Amino acid sequence: MSIDAEIGFTADVIRDPSRFVGRTELIRNCILAINSPTGLISVFGKRGVGKSSLLRQLQQMALGEYTLARHAGLGNLIPSKPRTYLTVYYACDSMISNGKELLSRLCNDQNPEDGLLRLVPNDGKEIVEFTRSKEVSAGADLKVINWGAKGVESSKYARIVPDDIVQTFGNFVEAVVAHQVKGRMKRDALLIILDEFDVIENKDGIGSLIKSLTTPDVKFAVCGIGRDLSDLIHDHASVERLIEQGVLPVRPMPASESEAIITTASELFKGAVRFEPGVASKIADIGQGYPYFVQLVGKQCINELNARCTDLVDDDVLNKVLDDLKTGKAFPALESAYQLAIGSSSDRQLLLHLLAEQETEQPRSDEIGRVVLKNTRQLAEELDIQYIDQLMPRLVDKRYGPVLESIPERRGTYEFVNPVLRQYIRLRAL
Ligand SMILES: Nc1ncnc2c1ncn2[C@@H]1O[C@H](COP(=O)(O)OP(=O)(O)OP(=O)(O)O)[C@@H](O)[C@H]1O
Ligand SMILES: [Mg+2]
Repeated sequence: MSIDAEIGFTADVIRDPSRFVGRTELIRNCILAINSPTGLISVFGKRGVGKSSLLRQLQQMALGEYTLARHAGLGNLIPSKPRTYLTVYYACDSMISNGKELLSRLCNDQNPEDGLLRLVPNDGKEIVEFTRSKEVSAGADLKVINWGAKGVESSKYARIVPDDIVQTFGNFVEAVVAHQVKGRMKRDALLIILDEFDVIENKDGIGSLIKSLTTPDVKFAVCGIGRDLSDLIHDHASVERLIEQGVLPVRPMPASESEAIITTASELFKGAVRFEPGVASKIADIGQGYPYFVQLVGKQCINELNARCTDLVDDDVLNKVLDDLKTGKAFPALESAYQLAIGSSSDRQLLLHLLAEQETEQPRSDEIGRVVLKNTRQLAEELDIQYIDQLMPRLVDKRYGPVLESIPERRGTYEFVNPVLRQYIRLRAL
């Protein structure tokens, strides 16, 4: 019988606390941030490093569900009466061009479990309590099971002000706080979580907007790709006083945590899969601190087990996965990103490999992934790569990824936009 790889490994955001591995320091900071009455929470880090998964755990804790924190040995940090919230979770997209549009999206989001609109009281709408995790102690949130006959917009309690989205949003939030947060659920506040915040095109003024909307009853958490808060909120000076607590930089995982993803998976498989000693650390090493890669490799190992009708992940299975990776067969999504970047040029392919393999000069954590073109130039010339400067533009062109982003303040320096793709290129054969 074949084994369902998803039981132990997933490429998806981790919502279930029992699947969430490591990150003790960040969980600690989550507890502190959630329990401080005002303040903005910001989560940032590289692509695929585990931001959204952390955010979903933050959401759990905001609902009063602290099993993860207890398992991480942080029980002593949980206040006897933790601050509890109702939550809104919204993932931004690049069609949102500015702060006002963001508010408008929030006011119209019909997601029945995560949207703001679900909480706005109106006649006819049916809202029930539900829990986001299997834990018995799980904190309840609210979801809509029936939007009512009058349609989703009609709200008796929150006035829509034509052409004034800031005011409308304010009215919505006020109604939610009065009727649902305090009234129905007796919670302390509303937590509005905004993921993929980095993709909003024009972030001018968003900081001061968030500041003006933040009160002891309403807290925001923003999350996205970036090196620090200023990558997410350009006018960060306006939120400076809000961020004493709640700065959550998500860095690559230490090897021990990557290994723990395998251990956790093997527990989740409940004995249906075994891992030969030593394999976990090899997979962790392949992942280079990126849990996404560990999950992908793990998943692929299970697929290989199914092909072989065995249940032991050993070196042989792992090597087969790595061989498939080398020839572009194992990970279709990464492979197509790779192919798109190189186009049909074998010179560009070689150049990309040289760049991916370049040792990073300063191994400072925020510079992981940076490469300097001139350091590769000589080697490239020795290998007879022609016209380097004509090969580069495609690699930084949005239409083809981009794989690389040039660092404006340092000429000739580039950063791999997706560190997982960089690692993939390193492991892939030319
Ligand atoms: N703490 C964790 N334990 C186990 N797996 C994790 C953990 N964090 C992240 N992952 C895995 O890593 C992958 C990426 O996670 P996630 O989507 O949370 O990252 P992200 O930083 O939000 O990515 P993106 O930049 O693409 O939005 C997923 O496969 C997820 O299952
Ligand atoms: Mg994410």
